[in-house]
Amino acid sequence: MTKTIQHAVIIGGSSGIGLATARKLLGPGMKVTITGRNEEKLTSAWNSLGGAADKAAFDAAKPDEVSRFFEGLGPFDHLVLAASGGKGLGPFQTLDLSDIGSGVDEKVRPQLSCLQAALPTLNKAGSVTFISAVSAQLATPGVAGIAAINGMLLTVVPILALELKPLRVNVVAPGVIDTPWWDFLADEQRQALFADYAGRTPVGRIGRAEDVASAIAFLVSNGFMTGQVLTCDGGLRFAA
Ligand SMILES: NC(=O)c1ccc[n+]([C@@H]2O[C@H](COP(=O)([O-])OP(=O)(O)OC[C@H]3O[C@@H](n4cnc5c(N)ncnc54)[C@H](OP(=O)(O)O)[C@@H]3O)[C@@H](O)[C@H]2O)c1
Repeated sequence: MTKTIQHAVIIGGSSGIGLATARKLLGPGMKVTITGRNEEKLTSAWNSLGGAADKAAFDAAKPDEVSRFFEGLGPFDHLVLAASGGKGLGPFQTLDLSDIGSGVDEKVRPQLSCLQAALPTLNKAGSVTFISAVSAQLATPGVAGIAAINGMLLTVVPILALELKPLRVNVVAPGVIDTPWWDFLADEQRQALFADYAGRTPVGRIGRAEDVASAIAFLVSNGFMTGQVLTCDGGLRFAA
């Protein structure tokens, strides 16, 4: 009997959570394609997967590049949306409100645009997993902007789960995870922030990309999960 091989596409699969998800999903029953903008970074990620994945470099914020990618891809089964934005952190009083628009352009619009372009070829028996952030669920000072951006993804998921059924649509909300997302901070600042969050997080540490990858793999593989927000934050939501 021939075994069915599924195909997962990870937008933003060249680093951090997306790359860890590729590593987790890759196997005899799952082919994986990783994407990202930076060709060099993508090739290095692809090498770290032993060349076992497919790769495609394009900018998910550019609709023509998104259409071209999905039109050339062919049928596939699972879409993981890990493209990132870095805007919107900081106290509300001094927050540059245009950062909220930039955050939408860098994260929300690319994730939605990839899903829209994927619909004609995405298996209806498959899944979509957005990545939002626990900031959208926290009542903690300094995250109003980034919460507004990420909150959009939490809001659309139950609606899309009904509208696109039987395609399953879920979202993971990660806590503070040690990935290159935090590279905008100097080493010392980043270590201090990680130590502070580790102290506030019930499990006593910040997250690893693999923690979130496991949550994503669960949503990809469990055929009874749809419309759900899966918070993967070590309990930070209840303690921050
Ligand atoms: N790390 C955290 O603490 C944390 C917490 C909550 C939520 N998240 C969310 O988790 C997701 C993954 O982040 P991460 O921590 O894994 O960050 P990361 O290591 O910086 O990875 C981001 C990935 O997205 C790709 N990417 C970004 N913009 C893109 C675009 N326009 N088109 C195509 N690819 C794009 C990047 O590659 P290129 O730069 O080469 O394009 C990279 O592969 C993001 O949505 C982030 O907001 C992270």
